[in-house]
Amino acid sequence: MKIIKTTNYRDMSRKAANIISAQIILKPACVLGLATGSSPIGTYDQLVEWYGKGDLDFSEVTTVNLDEYRGLPRENSQSYYYFMNEHLFQRVNIEKSKTFLPDGTEQDSEAACRKYDEIIKSVGGVDLQLLGLGHNGHIGFNEPADAFAKGTHCVDLSERTIQANTRFFASEDEVPRQAYTMGIQTIMAAHKILLVVSGEDKADIVRTAFFGPVTPQVPASILQFHQDVTVVADEAALSKCSGIL
Ligand code: F6R
Repeated sequence: MKIIKTTNYRDMSRKAANIISAQIILKPACVLGLATGSSPIGTYDQLVEWYGKGDLDFSEVTTVNLDEYRGLPRENSQSYYYFMNEHLFQRVNIEKSKTFLPDGTEQDSEAACRKYDEIIKSVGGVDLQLLGLGHNGHIGFNEPADAFAKGTHCVDLSERTIQANTRFFASEDEVPRQAYTMGIQTIMAAHKILLVVSGEDKADIVRTAFFGPVTPQVPASILQFHQDVTVVADEAALSKCSGIL
């Protein structure tokens, strides 16, 4: 695991965007695994800026996102499709037909998950997977559990995750209670993993996940076993790791 320390969120975003940009330049028809949430927004902004300057071309890129709320249609402003469209897809020359997320409107969980795993397989797997890190160690919506989930599955969001996501909704009641998420096996099958994390509120989980024991109670800890993980973290997120790094 390579850990890149950055001064702040902006610096983290630029460095992460550089890594994604290198992937697109080296393999224009690559498959990017993407994440939503606050952590990657600056990275997407930077990619959009470089696209605007003519330095990046998304025309051959395929994307598969980590997760989507169950029950939210694409038009809902809280859906992850809407988020991706706002922050990246509609701002670059990506072909919409090559952008994939689990189908939140498919009420049959098994069908939704099976279909998404088939899509990931049909595009040939993920070249570079971008991740954020939840306060409880979740990646995608793989919440702390007794075992690592494999493929795409439907999860009940933990109370902590519901509370953390309430900031995006009018009230806590409106936060969906379930989501479809890529499983740990799919995430671990990506050729490269890039995790972005920022802020002092993530300092404890950064230390626990990347320097503590590997356990499904801290889903991100499994990344210690991946052969090509880069964590781009700001000083605040690494503030509890002094003495280890
Ligand atoms: C989002 C996702 C989540 C977030 C995590 C961190 O697609 O899969 O695992 O990456 O909840 O969220 P932020 O970045 O908002 O702190």
